[in-house]
Amino acid sequence: MSEVVIHKGLENIVITETKLSYIDGEKGILYYAGYPIEDLAKYSSFEEVCFLLWHNRLPSRKELDELKRSIRENAEIPWEVVDLMRKAPKKAHPMDIMRTAVSALGPYDPELEDNSREANIRKSIRLQAKVGTITAYIYRIKEGLAVIPPSKKLDYAANFLYMMFGKEPDELSSKIMDVALILHAEHELPASTTAALTTISTLSDIYSAVVSGIAALKGPLHGGANEKALEMLKEIKSPERAEEYIKKALAEKKRIMGFGHRVYKAYDPRARIFKEYFKKLCEQRNDWTMYRTAEKVEEVMISLLGHKGIFPNIDFYSGAVYDMLGIPSYLFTPMFAMARTSGWTAHIIEYLQDNRLIRPRAHYTGQLDLKYIPIEQR
Ligand code: ACO
Repeated sequence: MSEVVIHKGLENIVITETKLSYIDGEKGILYYAGYPIEDLAKYSSFEEVCFLLWHNRLPSRKELDELKRSIRENAEIPWEVVDLMRKAPKKAHPMDIMRTAVSALGPYDPELEDNSREANIRKSIRLQAKVGTITAYIYRIKEGLAVIPPSKKLDYAANFLYMMFGKEPDELSSKIMDVALILHAEHELPASTTAALTTISTLSDIYSAVVSGIAALKGPLHGGANEKALEMLKEIKSPERAEEYIKKALAEKKRIMGFGHRVYKAYDPRARIFKEYFKKLCEQRNDWTMYRTAEKVEEVMISLLGHKGIFPNIDFYSGAVYDMLGIPSYLFTPMFAMARTSGWTAHIIEYLQDNRLIRPRAHYTGQLDLKYIPIEQR
């Protein structure tokens, strides 16, 4: 018994091989299928990254056009599912609505029970197409607005903003949304992807596995830190107040949201990219208050905690960027799920190529051989 080693939280346990993403946390490096995240953010598109993750190679022009067409054609969701979303209690958590909607979609898919690679890629396209619509509709329904049918000509990111706000977004807003989707698409095996793999390893179905991913992402230890980081920046209000605020919070042993990461002990490369686009957005809007405040918070945090490997993570700048795009903070985690559906489905497809039922063990520490006492004698 004393030889048992318990790996709480499966920390540093390698459960599978993958060709989907590579993270070097010490150097702050991230690759998707061999391509640096910086290049994908700069030159690629979300649809191209989806293709890369599902097929492990970049598409030809024809293949990319075909994928974009297919995503557009599959973006509508059955009215019964829209109705189900509408009937959710007013105070329902947006992630509960999303989880329920994706779960409800499963039986509408004609290939639900076919777990072949080809069928799962086709289902991933259909599901990816529909989660964008679901996410936009969560917003429309919550705000008491009529839902907007998906556009037949816009690409994924622009179409999402169109279904949110009812007008075609400008070029910079579309690019920023596209980059945000790329940056959230994939990140190896966080809790949500592990949950999705656990479900698919029983040979369940891809919708059920994605529902498991959404369920795990709901928790504040996974999705949701950007909402809190934004709240903090709004509370600090100006760069002059940043140093005092951070020092006080740290003295009170508070965690500063949007900093630190289990894997990255250097600057999260995704945060660097978000920061760049945050700056472009501030230039366009000529509104620098939040940017200057955030920059000061970053400077103070790095000077105080950089030596411990604590730097901005993806959540530090993303909330502020979404806020400037007019997106309410309750939608941040569903948007994360919308982007990560590509990574979840890619991992599901990859894992099924060499499936092994995920079934860890637990070390029993209770008593044995207790004598059963009938209830009336206890
Ligand atoms: N603010 C202040 N101190 C911090 C922070 C932070 N954000 N993060 C870590 N620390 C400190 C801890 O207090 C601890 O200090 P100690 O050694 O003096 O006790 C030390 O750094 C190590 O902290 P751990 O909790 O052991 O580090 P871990 O790797 O488990 O934490 C985590 C990672 C949970 C993300 C943490 O950094 C945190 O809570 N950050 C804030 C929440 C956040 O931004 N989450 C988003 C992560 S990105 C994503 O999920 C998409």
